[in-house]
Parts: sequence; C-alpha cells; structure tokens
Amino acid sequence: MRNFVSSFPLMLLVVLLLSTMVASAAETPSPSLIPKPASLEPGRGAFIVDAATAIRIRPGDTELKAVADYLGDLVFRSHGLRLPVTTQRGQGSVIELRHATRAGKPESYRLDVGRKSARISAHSREGMLHGARTFWQLIGRVDGKETLAAPALRIVDAPRFAWRGIMLDSARHYQSPEFIRSYIDWMALHKLNVLHWHLTDDQAWRLEIKKYPRLTDIAAWRVPAGRAAAANIDPATGQPHRYGGFYSQDEVRAIVAHASARGVRIVPEIEMPGHASAPLAAYPQFAASTQPPKDVPADWGIYSHVYAVDDATFDFLEGVLDEVMALFPDEWIHIGGDEVEKHEWAESPQAQARMRELGLTEPKGLQGYFTQRIGRYLQAHGRRLVGWDEILEPGLADNAIVMSWRGVEGAMAATAKGYDSVLSPWPTLYFDNRQGSGGDEPPGRLRTISLEDVYRFDPLPDTMTTEQAKHLLGVQGNVWTEHIRTEPRVGWMTFPRAAAIAEMGWSQPEHRDWNDFLKRLPGQFARYDALGIPYADSIFAVQMKSQYQAGAAQVNVTLSTQAALGDIHYTLDGSAPDAESPRYSGALKLTPPSQLHAAAFVGTQRLSRPRAFVLSANASLRRSSAELKLCSEDIALGLEDEAPLIGTRAIFHLDIQNPCWIFEQANLDGIDRIAAMTGDVPFNFQIGEATKKIKLATPETDHGELLVHLDRCDGPLIARVPLPALSATGPATVLSAGALQSQHGHHDLCLRFAQHGIDPMLAIDWVQLLPAEAPTEAN
Ligand code: ACM
Repeated sequence: MRNFVSSFPLMLLVVLLLSTMVASAAETPSPSLIPKPASLEPGRGAFIVDAATAIRIRPGDTELKAVADYLGDLVFRSHGLRLPVTTQRGQGSVIELRHATRAGKPESYRLDVGRKSARISAHSREGMLHGARTFWQLIGRVDGKETLAAPALRIVDAPRFAWRGIMLDSARHYQSPEFIRSYIDWMALHKLNVLHWHLTDDQAWRLEIKKYPRLTDIAAWRVPAGRAAAANIDPATGQPHRYGGFYSQDEVRAIVAHASARGVRIVPEIEMPGHASAPLAAYPQFAASTQPPKDVPADWGIYSHVYAVDDATFDFLEGVLDEVMALFPDEWIHIGGDEVEKHEWAESPQAQARMRELGLTEPKGLQGYFTQRIGRYLQAHGRRLVGWDEILEPGLADNAIVMSWRGVEGAMAATAKGYDSVLSPWPTLYFDNRQGSGGDEPPGRLRTISLEDVYRFDPLPDTMTTEQAKHLLGVQGNVWTEHIRTEPRVGWMTFPRAAAIAEMGWSQPEHRDWNDFLKRLPGQFARYDALGIPYADSIFAVQMKSQYQAGAAQVNVTLSTQAALGDIHYTLDGSAPDAESPRYSGALKLTPPSQLHAAAFVGTQRLSRPRAFVLSANASLRRSSAELKLCSEDIALGLEDEAPLIGTRAIFHLDIQNPCWIFEQANLDGIDRIAAMTGDVPFNFQIGEATKKIKLATPETDHGELLVHLDRCDGPLIARVPLPALSATGPATVLSAGALQSQHGHHDLCLRFAQHGIDPMLAIDWVQLLPAEAPTEAN
C-alpha cells in the first residue's frame, strides 16, 4: 500500500480521471456519481483496489454476503478484478461492509473511504446495496492499465423520495424474462427502486393466470397489423403467425426474487376497466358489450371495450388478483384506470341496472364504483391500490395512490385531498418521445424530450403546499412501447433519461444542477459501456447541417451536439476520429463527393459513437424522411415499416393525422424529374372521429400518386407521379419517378399522396430531384 507522498502523482491521475470538473488546483474534485449524494466530504489520498483487496463481512451474515458478492461482481464485470469476500482480518486493503448501529433514514448509507480501508455501513439492506453502488462508481483506473483506486472521502446519503420508478410496457411489445432481469439490474445501479410493470393492455395480456388459461393461450398473442404479417402463414394452423409471449408464474417468481435481491419493488399493472380488449377477446363473457372483440387487436390508441360491472366479472377479476397478489409480494398493485370509454356501459342493460341500483345518473360513475370495489378487495388483502389519475373520484379508498400522468394536476388534486401521489406526467416523463432529432434515433413519438428536458423537470411544483408535498411519494419515467419493438431500443429510450429520473428522485434540490450533471455523464456512459448497458448517446452525438449554394462547388457544413461539452473532432478520410483528429472550430467548406466522420471528446475520452456523413455530388437534391419537414405535428411519429418481417425496416416520419411533407428550399434550376422511394404503413390507430378528418387527395391511377405542389400545399401542382403496387411479399418500399414541371430558383415543395383509402397509409422513405438526363437511381 502506498503512502500519500508516493501516491501523489497517482492522485493527480485519480483527480483527472474521476473528476467531473475541469478543476483548478484549488477546486475539490467531485467524482462522477449519479445520482449525486446528499453529502460528500473529500478526504486526502486514494484507496487502491488491487488483487490484495478483499471485501470483509461478519461471519455468518448472509445479507452482507449477498451485498459483498454483488459489489464483487460489479467490480469484476467492469474492471476484470476479482475481489475475494472474507470474514478474516488480513494484510491487504479492505472494503468492510457493516450494519449501522443506529437506525437512520430509509435506504440511507454511509461510506468512509480512507487510504487503507473503506467502509460501507447502513442499517437496511437497501442502504447497504446503495452504498455498494456508490463505492463501485468511485472506482476508476489510474494508470491506463492496472491500478484501480477510489478517492478518499466520506459520503452520508439518503434519498429525497421513496418512489423512484420506471414503468415498462411489456404488453405492446414483449421483452424476454432475461431482459427484464437485466433491466432491473440497470435500474438498481441508478438507485431506482420501483419497476412499474405494465403487463396487460388492449394488445396483449402477459401474465400467466392458472385459473384463466385463455389469458395466455389467446390474449398473449396477436397478428401484427399490416399485409406482411397477414401473409405470413403458419403451416401448422393455416393462419397467420401470432406475435407475443407471456411470463409464466415460475418466470415471474424468478424476476420478483431477482428484483428483491437488488432492492427493487415491482408494482404489477393489471389494467381495468378499460384497455382490456385482449382479456375480453379471451373471455368475452366479461365484456360490457354484446359485441366484444373477436381477436386480440393490433391497433394503437384507445379502444371502447370495457369490462362488465356484474358480479361474475368481479369474481373473474378477483380470481386474477388473487394470483397476482400471490406472485407479487409488494403492497402496491396498479389497476390502470386510464382512458376509460363509457359508451359500452351506456348501452348495456346490465350496466344500466347496476347504475339504478347504485343511484347513478351517468355511466361515468361506474368507474368510481369499479375502482372502489376492486380497492376494497385489495385492501382486505393488505394491499394498496395504485391507479392513473382518472381514479381520483369521490369514494376512492384512503390508502390509494394516484399516479399523475395528465400533467401534474392529478398530483395536485390528489395530494390536496390527502392521497399519496406519484408524478409521471406526459409528455416530459414519457420516454416513448424521442430524445434527439438525429437521423439514427429509433422509432418513437417525434416530439423531442431531451435528457435536459427530463433533468429540468421540477418534481415539487411550487404551487404545492408543504402539507401536500408530504403525500408526494416520488417520480417515475414511463416507457410505453407501441413504437419500441426491440429490447436494445427499450434500453436506448430508457437510458440515460433514467439517470435524470434517478437524480430527480434521489438527490436534494440544492444538488440538482444540469451543468454539473452533464459533466458527470461521461463517467456514467463509461460505466454503461463497461457493463454493456444499451443507452442513447444522443446528447453527445454529432449532427451535421449542410448548406449548398447555387453554382458553388463547395458545401458549407456545420457540426453540433445537443449539449456543449468537450470538442468535436472529425476526419475526412474515412477513418474513425480520435482526440488527435482535427478539432472542429467552425463551419467547414467541403467539396462533394466527400465523407465526414465525427465524434465529441473530453480530453481523450470519446463521448459518443462516431457518426458518419456522406456528401454526395447531388445530396442537396435529396431528402430522407427524417430530413423532410412535416406540414403539421398533431400525431407526429417516427414510425417503423411493418415489413419486411426479418431485416431492416424503413423508418418513416409522418403525422398520421395529416400525411404531408415539405422539401424546404429546393433548388429547382435544371430539374425536370422527381424520384421517390415510398412505402406504406398499416393505419392501425384508434383515434376516433379524428380519422374522418384526415385529408387525402383523390387518385387517378390504381396505386395512387405522389403529388408535388410548388411553394405551398395549395400551390400549383407541378408533379403527379404514379406509384407501383406494393405486394405483401415483395420489397417493403418501391422506387418511382416522374416528370416535374421546370421551375427556376429555390422553392419549398409540398409533398402529399393521392390514395384510395387510409389503410395502408403511404409514406416517404426518401425523395430526390433529378436534373435533366440524370439516371433515376442517381444519388
Ligand atoms: C397513460 O398514458 N394513458 C397513462
């Protein structure tokens, strides 16, 4: 073990590596801890972690042994060093885990790191786990190869809020049990402690219920929307292959045990009385309507189907909840309650009879009755009902928890009435919104909710009184997966925004500082990389804007990142940029064809994956779907094509309520044709009356046409390009080209489709303006 003097150069390195500040000598380095602890007192020197370091626990203490193994595993997976767990005093340095003698705040811990020993102490298992995570975050390499060290310091820490959650929608798209376990691990590393698991919805039921096997035989599966899925016939049944899956009770028990070991509570959500098409397709006898859904539907949006309000239906739901409560030991059970359409109750004689019995004049009142009845059942079993903010109606059980999603108003109203509440408001804490505008963002809602937007969300509205604030349990980010089909994309949409939720939920308000958080992010990304956590690097991803001047051989290229940290370095020879590559300091003038690779760096640490940009000779005449501007943004989506079933799918940007695009400032000199790669998407959206308002031009040919208007969408029509047929089994997008009336100068072009019906809806993959004589496929 080195003494302080001989380790001084090492300490400088520790400071450089672990510091998040570009610190002057007088400043105290602050390690890149996320979430930021309640108090941190720097010490002198560093604790070297090497092959002689052990984790020491009390003999026979299985709880501490589990935490020690957890810490050892994190260190091994991120740094390749195995730390033995011991109960003996020895020669080397030691990380001691110890129960605190005095009780403290829930989940609190204390960390004392000296030069020879480090001690993590807590009075609860949760606190112990948090302490281990913080210690793991402190460890960094100090000589580029061998030595690991943590800076000497003292941390005394506890969370601001008890509920620091992420909601994962496993109904719209299914994730494997292995993925769910990893996801819990990733959350836990952020000190996030609630997985709100959205297990049922219109499009699927994912939980095995032994008493009602059709919930998984039938309701866990659907035929995805679109021609390709319909044509994908399963030879065993002669019917289209079904998409889906469910979690068996054994799998759920393993997941719950895993979450518990990590200190994460799982709040299962079983949606009722709406968002229930899938279970009602399996058990139509429990539907309010005499025309329940025949199949599990594949549309997104809000269906009218609701459960009946008769005793048999409540028996069914109670039977389901009995098994849910047996599987999920936590007191909180979420019953949804959002977006309940009341038409089916209004039309049901049996619901009307229930209304008369209850003295209700409006079917609306039946939701209150429904929630109260289920709430009483849960309460009788020692559980607390959680629901979306629509459950806040007179008569709601006192111990219910209201999850505020329609803004923060639900939390304001609920806490004013003395109910506990969790904030997860749309749109800021909705992680189905994309977090950047780069061309490589995965599909999602096109509204940008950046990491900074999430970070700056104030979890305690100033209009909330101190009395109300006592009922605010915490905060939660919601990962709705209609447009998040794959597991890596779930990771991308969740992280690092979950790190912002973590700090919002854990750290004291005086420690919440966006610029400071930003400086700690590279350290967080390095940890994500070390553990293989899928995440979005959108915040540091380089984006390029190019400006072509008429008649000029060179193109003006500007580079930027969402957040300004570090420097952008780039190459023009196809090689990957490093910190030695030219530094970007202002607009570049490039001569096409050329290629540019760029990434952002702090010192030698690369902050984001390099991005590649190709400037082709006539790139100014081409726009991808993502580069076209939408005419409106009512329901603006980055929507993945539903085909091909295997392989890469196009991502179309469109407003499904108004499919219309603008090619801004096109240089039309010498242009006499337009080529387009187009595809189509199933119109699988339940948006009610809004569907009737979607404007589509009348086609003149069998498969419709791409229309081009000059300057404005009601300007002169300068091209009508007939489209070829799209087949179920052929390519998912097709190329077409047609004449465009000659014009001069720069103009906006408005692009729309003339098409025979709304489903499927035509969409643009890319368009290209073509000079006279250019081959159609030129790009
Ligand atoms: C919700 O987003 N419908 C809770």
